Amino acid sequence: MKTIGLLFATVFFAAVLLAEGNAQNNASVSAGLALTPPMGWNSWNKFGCNVSEDMIKSMADAVLKSGMKDAGYVYVNIDDCWQVNRDDKGNIVADPQRFPHGMKAVGDYIHSLGLKFGVYSDAGSETCAGRPGGLGHEYQDAIQYATWGVDYLKYDWCHTTTQDAKAAYANIRAALDASGRPIVLSICEWGTAKPWLWGAEVGGNLWRTTGDIQDRWGGQQKWPDGSCCSNGVLAILDQQVGLQSYAGPGHWNDPDMLEVGNGGMNDAEYRSHFSLWALLAAPLIAGNDLRNMRPEIHDILTNKEVIAVDQDAMGRGGERVANTGDVEVWSKQLSDGSRAVVLLNRGGAEQEIVARWEDLGYPASLSASVRDLWEHKDLGKIRGKFSARVPSHGVVMVTVKP
Ligand code: GLA
Repeated sequence: MKTIGLLFATVFFAAVLLAEGNAQNNASVSAGLALTPPMGWNSWNKFGCNVSEDMIKSMADAVLKSGMKDAGYVYVNIDDCWQVNRDDKGNIVADPQRFPHGMKAVGDYIHSLGLKFGVYSDAGSETCAGRPGGLGHEYQDAIQYATWGVDYLKYDWCHTTTQDAKAAYANIRAALDASGRPIVLSICEWGTAKPWLWGAEVGGNLWRTTGDIQDRWGGQQKWPDGSCCSNGVLAILDQQVGLQSYAGPGHWNDPDMLEVGNGGMNDAEYRSHFSLWALLAAPLIAGNDLRNMRPEIHDILTNKEVIAVDQDAMGRGGERVANTGDVEVWSKQLSDGSRAVVLLNRGGAEQEIVARWEDLGYPASLSASVRDLWEHKDLGKIRGKFSARVPSHGVVMVTVKP
């Protein structure tokens, strides 16, 4: 009797060890992804449902030709509407008119340029645009994505009824890992269930912190159907206050994709949008038509000094360290002990803005080298504080290095 008991116990513990080993093996598939905030391009902000194989391939070409790849942008991500239904085995089917050669061909082309391939789905029964969602097909879809060479999955939250967000995202992460392919998981749950509290734990590499961005400077606006709300740049920025400590290598706050170059803001506003996203250590996912950018827009998206702030290896999220009225100072610690600093003027007229060393966590007596990241100019050694005149809706962005 005793021997049989011992045998059972041994078999049981061996099984537990094996299961744990498998779980660890699976999880290690995605370990080391997104050690800095992901950079790339996504179709939604400019093209909405108007996606096709030709457009995506020409955009991938443009990532190279425009110098975006050299600046660090690697993901080419197709958002909603590439999918139309499921076949009789439940496999997800790409729109045969718009993607006549199938998704693997698109992925192969993107990979042939040295870029990475992203797709979109949804944790519920349907995507936000009413296409088939992933619910109940998580493992089947993950295998399919791996076959296509998918490197990045944005997973939305429409039509999820009573689903638990943490469990749903843990489930798709487990499915992606089981496919054996390292795939970045972008949690697009709009901040509803505070994904910054559990996103990293379930293997999410980034999580949306707010509802959708719209290409405008100002606050929140109701959607045409009366529901709340789309967000301008400032509305999103205000919702990032206090979230900085949740960002770090492998897991990032996502204040939504860039609108730089889409036409709804002026260049000063786009420069502010880009500077602030970099300071927040946000994913930099461009959303404009890269095939015909004005030089000013190109210079914003490819400013390597600003991108270096975003991509700093320590991965600290930026925080608001001072605000009075329309004037704010945002600061991010960098791995060499310096700070990136954004002076933001939300007001309607030019103003003088001061960044005090004490607000940056430095003693006032410190003498530090200041460099302007938009002018690409060293401003010399400065003690105690830095001040600059900042245009309406504009920023001055500097690094302060002891
Ligand atoms: C939601 C997401 C957007 C976009 C659309 C697609 O609104 O938040 O980023 O993916 O769905 O339908």
